[in-house]
Parts: sequence; C-alpha cells; structure tokens
Amino acid sequence: MEAIGVEPGGTRPRVVDVPRPDPEPGEALVRTLRVGVDGTDRGIIAGDHGSLPPGEDLLVLGHEAVGVVETAPETGFERGDVVAPTVRRPPTDGGNEFFERGEADMAPPGATVERGIDGAHGFMSEFFTSPASSLVRVPETLACWGFLVEPVSVVEKALELARASRSSFDWTPQTALVLGNGSLGLLAVAALVGEFDVYCLDRRSRPQPGIDIVERLGGTYVDARETPLPAIPDQHEPADLVFEATGYAKHAFQSIEALAPNGVAALLGVPDSWRFEVDGGRLHERLVLSNRALVGSVNSGPRHFRRAVDRIGSFPDWFPASYVSRVVDVDSFSAAFEAGDQILKTAVEFDSS
Ligand code: NAP
Ligand code: BGC
Ligand code: ZN
Repeated sequence: MEAIGVEPGGTRPRVVDVPRPDPEPGEALVRTLRVGVDGTDRGIIAGDHGSLPPGEDLLVLGHEAVGVVETAPETGFERGDVVAPTVRRPPTDGGNEFFERGEADMAPPGATVERGIDGAHGFMSEFFTSPASSLVRVPETLACWGFLVEPVSVVEKALELARASRSSFDWTPQTALVLGNGSLGLLAVAALVGEFDVYCLDRRSRPQPGIDIVERLGGTYVDARETPLPAIPDQHEPADLVFEATGYAKHAFQSIEALAPNGVAALLGVPDSWRFEVDGGRLHERLVLSNRALVGSVNSGPRHFRRAVDRIGSFPDWFPASYVSRVVDVDSFSAAFEAGDQILKTAVEFDSS
C-alpha cells in the first residue's frame, strides 16, 4: 500500500510502498481517510524533532488522522465506525506505569514513542492498525474534519493543565492571549472565544487568512512587530491565560510579563536549542509576588480527544472550511507540506468515501 515517509533532516517526504499491516488481537485495521499536517511535521522533515523507528531508515509521517474501521474483532468497534487514533504508544521494550494508568500523555521522553513523530510509524498510509483502546469515536457527520480531533485535543489538554494549576483559589479569568495564529494557535482561539476576550499575536501582515479568522471569531489580532509581547499589558490588557503556540523560545519568558496577577501561561511550542539573555531575577520575582504560573503541555489522551470531538461540534459552521486551506490527494501530497503566510492547515486525503 502507499504511504508517505521521510528521512528526517534529509530528503523531502516521498510516496513509498509498504506492506499493509495485519491487526493483532485487540487491534483494529483502519482505512485512512485524511491526515493533517502541522508545524511538528515540518520540524520532523527539517530534522529538528522526532526520530526513526528502531532499525528503520524512513519514518512514515502523520499523527493527525481520521479513518474508518475495516475490521476490529472483539474490540467494541464495528466495520464502518469513524475513528481518530491517539499518538502515543508504549516504547518497543514494553509498557510502563504511565500506560498502565492510561496517562501516556504524561510520560516523559524515553517512556513513550509517538506515531508519525518519534520512534514509530505514523498514519499517512492507506491503512493503519491501532489498539482499539487508542481509538476514539468520531461522529460520521464530522468524518471530513476528524483529522482536527488530535490538534484540538492538544488544546484541550493544555487548558486542563492550566486550569488545574489555578484550581486552588477562585480564578475567574477573562482575558486570553494566544501566541501564534498558525495551525495550533487558531484552534486555541476558536476554543477560547466562547469564554474569554481573546487576543492573538503573530508576525503576519494583512491580508492573511489567519488574521481574518481571528477577527471573524471575535478575537483581536496583535502584530508582534508593532506590539511585542511584553508591551501587551500596557497597550491592551494583561492576560489571565497565555497559550503559547509559536515555538519562539523568548515567548516562554516574555509571557511572564504579559500575565495578569494570578495568571497562567501554557507553553506548547517546541523550540530548538537557543541561548539568549533574560533578567532571571525579575522574572522569578514576578512569578512569585503575583502568583503567576508557567505550565508546559505536550500531547493528549483519550479524554482530551473526546472533549475535542465535542469542541469541534461547537465551532461555528464556517470555521473548519475557512481554517483548512488545502486537502490534497496522495498524488499531490507535497502541496500539503508547503508552508507560507496564506496557508493555514493542510491535509492529505487517502480515501474520500
Ligand atoms: P505553525 O503553523 O508553523 O504556526 C506557528 C506560528 O507562530 C506561525 O504563524 C509563526 O509565524 C508564528 N511565530 C513564530 N515565531 C514568532 C514570533 N517571534 N512572533 C510572532 N509569531 C511567531 O506551527 P503549529 O503547527 O501551529 O505549531 C506551533 C508550535 O507548537 C510548534 O513549535 C509545534 O512543534 C508545537 N506543537 C506542540 C504540540 C504539543 O503537544 N505541545 C502540539 C502541536 C504543535 P511565521 O510563519 O512567520 O514563522
Ligand atoms: C503532536 C503531539 C506530540 C507533540 C510532540 C505535536 O505536534 O500533536 O501529539 O506529543 O507534537 O512531539
Ligand atoms: Zn501535532
């Protein structure tokens, strides 16, 4: 069967022929419908993130998938069920306490592999197999947008961790600041606008579809070239919640300045190594004297996937079609990996039925 693979940090992704997988007991064979692409995929291709499966020289890409169950004997799933797979699996040398507790998303590096990213093949192939316990049902009506369940679940987990860090007192947040109007940031804006006054900071110029989406959702776009992150409290308002989705390492520290007292910043970007100076004393003092918090958040588990399904159902009808710039078939797959100011979210379609 056809798959899309890459030698990370080497060549461009290419179509390869790989054997169709056979499900083990407890697993489902899933026919792939669509697989989304995000900044992480571009980081893998560049060789900045992720790793090959042991002993292999090519990684099958794709961690944002939706598909249809072909066979899944004695798993509770039936042929025709629409499903989205979670990303993390036990390492090849076996499971551990995180998997036993159903908390793979909290496993530290080395205690998990990630399909399509780190040490395990992904879902960009005509079929994939997965343990049934790592599949989440998607309503048939959302099948064409089901590849958004994984990235929205990442937003849900980060919000859960941020809220948990503020759960010991009466936190009544009003203002959220999303850093990045890329593929992850825009999903965060869409998730937050119902509850917060949302600002979204990026460095893109109009006309740009992501800025249009922020404004159509009711948010305020901030151009970082005119209003850098630390200036936002003075020029707009301090943020009760910062959601970092740029991978720009200075933002982690500048977020502390942008927070309101008792606020929290959730960091999701995955930067490269980068040395720069910060006033550590001042930032430390701000965290302590104003009860501010920083939380890192990665990946997501089945409950976040289920919340994501509900969240996508609550998005305005126009949102998915405006947010998804491009869905290409396997013959034109390379267009899904192109990045640019006018491209927001892309996906590869393996089967449209
Ligand atoms: P993306 O589509 O490339 O979006 C990133 C956005 O941030 C782009 O619009 C980019 O603008 C903007 N940006 C970068 N540096 C900036 C700066 N200094 N000031 C203002 N804007 C800036 O990537 P994505 O898919 O949304 O992912 C964002 C980050 O989250 C990546 O690092 C990715 O690896 C990470 N991620 C983490 C998780 C997790 O579980 N923690 C999940 C998914 C993604 P330009 O185009 O001009 O650079
Ligand atoms: C994926 C997560 C993954 C993270 C780090 C993100 O793009 O959506 O599932 O844990 O990258 O590899
Ligand atoms: Zn991702």
